[in-house]
Amino acid sequence: MNTLTISEEQIILRQPDDWHLHLRDGSILDSVIIPTAKVFNRAVVMPNLSPPIVSIQSALEYKRRILKAVPKGLSFMPLMTTYLTDTTSPELLAKGFAEEIFFAAKLYPQNATTNSSLGVSDLASINSVFETMEKIGMPLLIHGEVTDSEVDIFDREAVFIERHLEPLLNRFPSLKVVLEHITTTDAVQFVEANQSKLAATITPHHLHINRNEMFIGGLRSDFYCLPIVKRERHRVALRRAATSGSPCFFLGTDSAPHLRASKETSCGCAGIFNAPNALESYAQVFEEEGALDRLEGFSSEFGAVFYGLSLNTKKITLIKSPHKIPSKFKLQSKDLDSEYIVPFHSGEILNWKISE
Ligand code: NCD
Ligand code: ZN
Repeated sequence: MNTLTISEEQIILRQPDDWHLHLRDGSILDSVIIPTAKVFNRAVVMPNLSPPIVSIQSALEYKRRILKAVPKGLSFMPLMTTYLTDTTSPELLAKGFAEEIFFAAKLYPQNATTNSSLGVSDLASINSVFETMEKIGMPLLIHGEVTDSEVDIFDREAVFIERHLEPLLNRFPSLKVVLEHITTTDAVQFVEANQSKLAATITPHHLHINRNEMFIGGLRSDFYCLPIVKRERHRVALRRAATSGSPCFFLGTDSAPHLRASKETSCGCAGIFNAPNALESYAQVFEEEGALDRLEGFSSEFGAVFYGLSLNTKKITLIKSPHKIPSKFKLQSKDLDSEYIVPFHSGEILNWKISE
């Protein structure tokens, strides 16, 4: 299966897929799709638009807008998801899945993150949805955090696993579940222990930064995302998991663009925009961990295998070429200097570069 070629100067690997991505809509979509479509063949597109994607019609229309925004000459396949609410109908899910419009359903606990106010308020109230998904083999993608205000924000993932995920897997043992963007040792251990039906995505940022980064020299909203970055020991556990070669951990960038003005305000949005340098960012981690030979499994194979999809056949080349990441990602259609997004690694040097 391994098609990887590694030398001091270059890595040739199977084209990757992004199993967790926010593309937004309108002029932001038109710009942020470009770096993703240049590198990735497929991406699981998150449905947390405003209003969210909750119908077959809205998923189809959103997919059309995404495909229209893909630059000519690139091939890119968006895999659409639907947003679970307290009133999602199992029949609608089954229809959308059978018609291959919904690739998966996304569970946001209500108010857990950006645009999740219509998310699920009580998991027990949508048992019939889980029953149907288990029966038809439809994957459930979970934002795994409790929202109770008495639970410390740094503990919300661990508490979700204990209070909700473990009981859910016990009640629906054949349900196919991805715990998205994991951030803790607790999640790593839980996923490893339940890996026949459970997998997890890991973002580049959770592999690079710990919670100190949000407060170095002041309040740094660029490093604020959800689930929030945790202590160093959790980052170390995530790096070990991602580079372990274990197929239950795979690439999902959670690239979540917000315009500068929405990040830099008294109540800044959660989300880190890493799409312009995502693969390079992962490559840096794998290089630092002495695990470049395991990059391809994580980025280009384990996710497809988990979802039962074919592996990409195209190759992509990374060359060793230390380069500085620009401080701004400008929207194509915007003339205003203020309308930009700050990319992850802004102003830093990354060693690997995609050869175009
Ligand atoms: C995401 C967003 O902005 O849509 N934000 C984030 O911090 N990751 C939502 C999400 O995935 O939680
Ligand atoms: Zn996300």
